[in-house]
Amino acid sequence: MDQPPEATRVYLAGHTGLVGSAVHRALQRHGSSDIITCDECDLDLTDQQATRHFFARERPDAVIIAAAKVGGIMANWEQPYEFVAINLAIELNLIECAFRSGVRRLVFLGSSCIYPREAPQPLREEYLLTGPLEETNRPYAIAKIAGIELCRSLNREYGTDYLSLMPTNLYGPGDNFDLRTSHAMPALIRRFHEAKVGVPDEDGRPRRPQAPVVLWGSGTPRREFLHVDDVAEAIVFALRQVPAAEVPDGMLNAGVGEDQTIAELAVLVQRVVGHEGPIEWDAGKPDGTPQKLLDVSRIKGLGWAPAVGLEEGIRRTYRWYVETCTAPDGTFRDPRRPASV
Ligand SMILES: NC(=O)c1ccc[n+]([C@@H]2O[C@H](COP(=O)([O-])OP(=O)(O)OC[C@H]3O[C@@H](n4cnc5c(N)ncnc54)[C@H](OP(=O)(O)O)[C@@H]3O)[C@@H](O)[C@H]2O)c1
Repeated sequence: MDQPPEATRVYLAGHTGLVGSAVHRALQRHGSSDIITCDECDLDLTDQQATRHFFARERPDAVIIAAAKVGGIMANWEQPYEFVAINLAIELNLIECAFRSGVRRLVFLGSSCIYPREAPQPLREEYLLTGPLEETNRPYAIAKIAGIELCRSLNREYGTDYLSLMPTNLYGPGDNFDLRTSHAMPALIRRFHEAKVGVPDEDGRPRRPQAPVVLWGSGTPRREFLHVDDVAEAIVFALRQVPAAEVPDGMLNAGVGEDQTIAELAVLVQRVVGHEGPIEWDAGKPDGTPQKLLDVSRIKGLGWAPAVGLEEGIRRTYRWYVETCTAPDGTFRDPRRPASV
C-alpha cells in the first residue's frame, strides 16, 4: 500500500538529527514532495502550546517522530531526570497533537534499550515489560516505553494507525562525535582518528601519531549496529506499508540480526581509520548490558532488510567525520555546534 507521495503531507520531527536527516533523504528518494520540518529554535517540542499551534497551522497527514534527547552511557548516567522528562514531554506533545489534529499515520521511534536487561537474545518484540531494565539507561527506556504505550492505547481506543519502531544501535553520517554525549561507534571512530593523527588526549597531554587508544570496559559486550540509511528506509517502509494493526502491539524491531563484541568492532574501526598503535582496555569502567541483539524476523517477514554492510558503513561514516568534523590538524570541530560569529 505504498501511498502516492503527493497524497501525504509528512511532518518529520527531529530532521536535523542523525536519524531525522537520513529520513529526510529517504523520503526525498521515495518521491515525497511535501515534507514539513521545523528547527528547534522555532519550535521547542517540550512546549505543549507551541506544538499545538504548529499542528493547527501545518496540518500534516502523517508524522515521523525522530526528535528526542539522545545520548550514550555517560550522558544517561549524569542526566537521568532530563532523559526521562524531556523525552516524555516530546512524545506526549507530538502524539497528543497528532491525534487531536487528525493525523492518520505516525511512526514513533523507540530503542532496543526498552527490553529487559536479562531478556533472552535475540530480543523479540513480545519481551517488552517482562523484566527489570538496564540501570544505566532506565529513565530513557521508561520514557520510550511510555511512547509505545501512548501509540498502542490510541490505536486500541480510537482506531489510529500509530506504529512504534525499535531501532538497534545506529551510526552513520550526521552522528554525534562529542565524546561527552556520543554513542560507542562515533566515539571509537574519533578516538582512533585522534590517536592516529596524534591530537592531544582529553586531558590536553600531547601525543605522538599512532598513540595507544584507551577504551572503556572489557570489550566483551556484544552489540549490533545498523547504518542510519538502513533505518531511514525501514521508517519509510513502516510508514507507507505496515498498518499498525497488522503487528502485535503496533511494535516492530529494526536491526541487522547479527552482532559482534565491542573488541571486534574496535579492531574493525581501527583498520578502517588506519590506526596502527595498541588498544588498551580500562576494565574499571562499566560495560553496560552484556548483549543487545534484536530479533528482526517480524520486519524481515514484512519485506524490509538492511542493505549497508558494517565495514562499508564505517568507511562512509569515517569519510564524513574527516570531511565534516575535523580541522586540518585533526582536532575536532562539532558541526552540531557551529562556532559563533
Ligand atoms: N542514535 C541511535 O543509535 C539510536 C538508536 C535507537 C533509537 N534511536 C532513536 O532515534 C531517534 C533519533 O535519534 P538520533 O540519534 O537521530 O538523535 P539526535 O541525532 O540527537 O537528533 C535528535 C533530534 O531531536 C531534536 N530535538 C531534541 N530536543 C528537541 C526539542 N525539545 N524540540 C525540538 N526538537 C528537538 C534535535 O534537534 P536539534 O538538533 O535542533 O537539537 C534533533 O533534530 C530517537 O528517538 C532515538 O531514541 C536512536
